[in-house]
Amino acid sequence: MTISVCIGSSCHVRGSYKIVEKINKAIKDNSLEDKVKVNAAFCLGKCSEGVTEGVSVKFDDEIVTGITESNFDDIFNKYILQKV
Ligand code: FES
Repeated sequence: MTISVCIGSSCHVRGSYKIVEKINKAIKDNSLEDKVKVNAAFCLGKCSEGVTEGVSVKFDDEIVTGITESNFDDIFNKYILQKV
């Protein structure tokens, strides 16, 4: 799986860097280094769709918006652990 974390300016101010850190840590904790690749992406085009909170992340072809430190664990379970 390839994960692209948006580091466009809107997502950046809403915590892209923290989310990248959390993703990398969660991948390590679950020993998924061989299965999941993490990239940074420029604006995924979601910040103009009325999303006001959290970061946009693309999991393979699926874009999920509104990812924050508090909902991160649920998102990680749903979009990564259950799919790899
Ligand atoms: S800056 Fe992240 S979707 Fe636009």
